[in-house]
Amino acid sequence: MSVRVRFITLSVIGTLLITTVACKNNAELMSESQRQEYLTEGDSIATEAQRILLMNVSQAIQNAGPAGAVDFCNVHAMPLTDSVSAMHKVNIQRLSDKNRNPENAIISETDKEAWLQIKTMMKDTAVKQKQLVLQQGSSIYYYKAIPLGMPACLSCHGVKGENILPETQQAINSKYPDDKATGYSIGELRGVWKIKMN
Ligand code: HEC
Repeated sequence: MSVRVRFITLSVIGTLLITTVACKNNAELMSESQRQEYLTEGDSIATEAQRILLMNVSQAIQNAGPAGAVDFCNVHAMPLTDSVSAMHKVNIQRLSDKNRNPENAIISETDKEAWLQIKTMMKDTAVKQKQLVLQQGSSIYYYKAIPLGMPACLSCHGVKGENILPETQQAINSKYPDDKATGYSIGELRGVWKIKMN
């Protein structure tokens, strides 16, 4: 091999090595400052989605009572979060271990890990923001706790026959035959926001 060919060969191998190492690092590691950016952006999107849902549910309860608002949530909860998703070009979901809508179940390993971590954060008063970012392959997911934050939630997620009116219970049963989302008390972990970041 001439010196020139040897040099070119070495350069090619060198470049390949550097590229491989650099790409590998990119896929595996998220820098601390990137993580902080995802946390800030995720938090702001989740807060906005929460505000829009709450505003609409409160309005529906005022107009149609809790039973009528169940129908409202059945039709509009997903499209409302989808509209926020579209605005920010992310994918927004709400998940729970005791889900009402079958589409909100915790299934993937990443979801299970996030749920465990958030459950632990709920018990830790030192952790103010109950949120985290996880990476799965090249995808980044933001998760944030949804506590059962106010008494109004109990009229649809509280104890059957105690907090939930019979007609509300009937509406829930007819729309969600496999409902698991009752029996909660104030402050408990009701679910999590899951946002697939861009
Ligand atoms: C008027 C009844 C009603 C009230 C009040 C209500 N919810 Fe719900 N909630 C529902 C219904 C119906 C669904 C299923 C929505 C769907 O089909 O996507 C739901 C779904 C959810 C979910 C998604 C996970 C799942 O179980 O499918 C979370 C989280 C949640 N509610 C939290 C809350 C919190 C927190 C409050 C109080 C701020 C609240 N809800 C108040 C009726 C209600």
